[in-house]
Amino acid sequence: MTMPLTPFSKKYPDEFLTRREDNFGVLLERIKLFHQQTRADIQDGTVSRRNLPYRFTYREELHDLKVNEKGISTEQVADEFNDMLQGCLRHQDPTAAFNIIPSPLFDIIAGITLTSLYNPNTCWDFISGKLSLYERKITRMLGSLVGWSQADGFVVTGGKQAIAYAIKCGIGRASTNHIGEMSDYVVIFSELAHFCIKHASYYLGISPENCLSISTEKSGEMDLKVFEETLHRIIAQGKRIAAVVAVAGTTIDLAIDPLLPIKKIIDEAVEKHRLDYVPYLHVDSVTSWVWLAFENNPDHLSHRQIHPNISKKIESLLAKLEGIQYADSFAADFHKTGFCPYAAGVFIAKESGYLSGMTPNRFLPKESVAFGELEVYRQTFENSRSGLGIVSIWIALRRMGLQGLREFVIYQLEVCELFKQKIQQTYSEHFEILNNHSNGWEIVIKPHLQHQQPWDELQRSSAKEQEAYTNACLSFLNHLWYGSLDNQAPRHPIIGFVRKYSRKGSHEQGLPAFLIHPTSLHYDEEAIDEMIKSIIDVKIAFDETDKSSVSIETYLCELVPPR
Ligand SMILES: Cc1ncc(COP(=O)(O)O)c(C=O)c1O
Repeated sequence: MTMPLTPFSKKYPDEFLTRREDNFGVLLERIKLFHQQTRADIQDGTVSRRNLPYRFTYREELHDLKVNEKGISTEQVADEFNDMLQGCLRHQDPTAAFNIIPSPLFDIIAGITLTSLYNPNTCWDFISGKLSLYERKITRMLGSLVGWSQADGFVVTGGKQAIAYAIKCGIGRASTNHIGEMSDYVVIFSELAHFCIKHASYYLGISPENCLSISTEKSGEMDLKVFEETLHRIIAQGKRIAAVVAVAGTTIDLAIDPLLPIKKIIDEAVEKHRLDYVPYLHVDSVTSWVWLAFENNPDHLSHRQIHPNISKKIESLLAKLEGIQYADSFAADFHKTGFCPYAAGVFIAKESGYLSGMTPNRFLPKESVAFGELEVYRQTFENSRSGLGIVSIWIALRRMGLQGLREFVIYQLEVCELFKQKIQQTYSEHFEILNNHSNGWEIVIKPHLQHQQPWDELQRSSAKEQEAYTNACLSFLNHLWYGSLDNQAPRHPIIGFVRKYSRKGSHEQGLPAFLIHPTSLHYDEEAIDEMIKSIIDVKIAFDETDKSSVSIETYLCELVPPR
C-alpha cells in the first residue's frame, strides 16, 4: 500500500516559488518585513555603523549551541537577520570612509535577488542557460578596453582568485615542455603588491621562499634594474617563472608598475636564456580598471569643467594603464570600483589558449561549442558556481556604460580633492595630508598627536621619537575604532589605518598613518565638512584624555591587514 504523497511545498505553504511563479508577491512582502526589522538599528539613518548593543566576546556567544528541533517563524528569522547585521559598517554613509567599498546599484540587487531565486549553477550552460554566454561577453567587453579582441576568462571572487588563476595559467605555460618539481617555480611581484599574492602562491604549492618581491623606486613603481637582475639570476639558477604579477594600482596611492618595460625585460630574458616558454605576465588592476572607461581619449576630459589636478591625475594614470595590452591577463574588481556587492571580480586573459594551464590535460572548450556544451567547471576552481557575479557585473556595465563609469571616477576624485583642500586649509593643525601625489581617491593623513611635527621632520627624527609617534598613533587608533564600540557612539567617523605608510616605497621609513577612503556616493561639501569635523572632534577628545591609562596590551592594530 502506498501512502498519499503531499508535496513538501504544501507542508510549508508560501515558503517556495510555485511552479507558475504566481506567489512572487509573498517574496516582496518578506523582503519588506526583513528590511523593516533592520530599520530600528540605524536610528535616523545618519550612522556609520549599525547598532551593536554590547561588545560581545566570541567565547560567550558560542557557548552551548545546538540546532533547533522545530523551525522558527519568519518573524523570528527576520529578527535574527537583523541581529546578524548588528555592528556592520554602513558604507553608504558619508561618516564611514574605511575602505573602497561600493554602494550596489538597485538594479543589480533586483537582478541578483531573482537570480538567487531561480538558482542557476553556472558550472555548465546546460543548467544555467545563457549566463555563461554573458560571462564570456563580459570578458570580451573588458578585454576590448585594452585592445584585445579575443579575450576570454571568468567571473571570479576578486583580485586574489584572479591572481591564483594567472599563476595557474603561468605554471601551465612554463611546464608545457618541462615537467619539473613545484620547488622550481617562482612568482615575482613588487614589494608594494597586494599581500594576497603570497597566499595565492602558497595555495598553488609555491613556497614562500619562491615568492620574490622586488623593491620599488621612490615613485612606488617596481625597480626595473632589480627586476631584470632577479629574473636573470633566477633563470640562471634553473628556476622557472610561474608568473610575474605587476601591480597596476597599489591599494594605497594607486602606483602602477611600468608594464611595457617589464614585458620587454621578460622577452629579452626569453631570448638570452633561450627559454622554451614566455613567462606569464598578469596585471593586478582590480581598482584601476575603471579608468579604462576613458579609453585614453582626451575628449572625455574636455567635455566638462574638471579641476586641472583631476584631469592631470586621470591622464597620468591612463598613460600608465596603456601597458596592460602587453600582458597576458588583467583583473577587474566590480566590488571595488563597479557598483557590485561582494563577490564580483573578473579575470581577463588575452586569448582562450592562455587558459590551458587551468586543466590537467590542457583542455580548452572547442571554439565551435554550442549551447549546452560549455562545461565551465572543467576550467574553474569552483565546481558548483554562482551566477550572481555574472548578473551583477553585466548589469553594472550596461546600466552605467562607459560614460557612467567615467562620471564615477571624476566624482570620486572631486570628493578627494575637496577633502584634501579643506584639511589643508582649515585643519592643518590637526592633520597633514601625506599623499597629494596619489592618482587615486584615498586620503592618507598624519595626525598631529603630541607634536605638530610634519612628516618630513618625523622621517628625520630619532628612532625614539618615531617610536613615540607610533605608540601615540596606536593609542589614537584604539580610541578611534574601539572607543566608539565601547561607548556605543554610532555617529563616530570610521576611517582606515595604515600600519606602515611610506610615500616612497622602501626609500622612506614606514610609519603609521590614517586613511580616509571616501566611497559614499552622498558626499557634497556639507557632508565632507561634517565628516572632517567629526574626525577632528574625536581627535580633540583623544588629545584631552589621560594617556597614562592606555597600556600597550590594549593596542589592537595587529588586526589591521597590511596594505
Ligand atoms: C591591489 C589589490 N590586489 C588584490 C586585492 C585582493 O582583492 P580581493 O579582496 O577582491 O580578492 C586587493 C584588495 O584590496 C587589492 O587592493
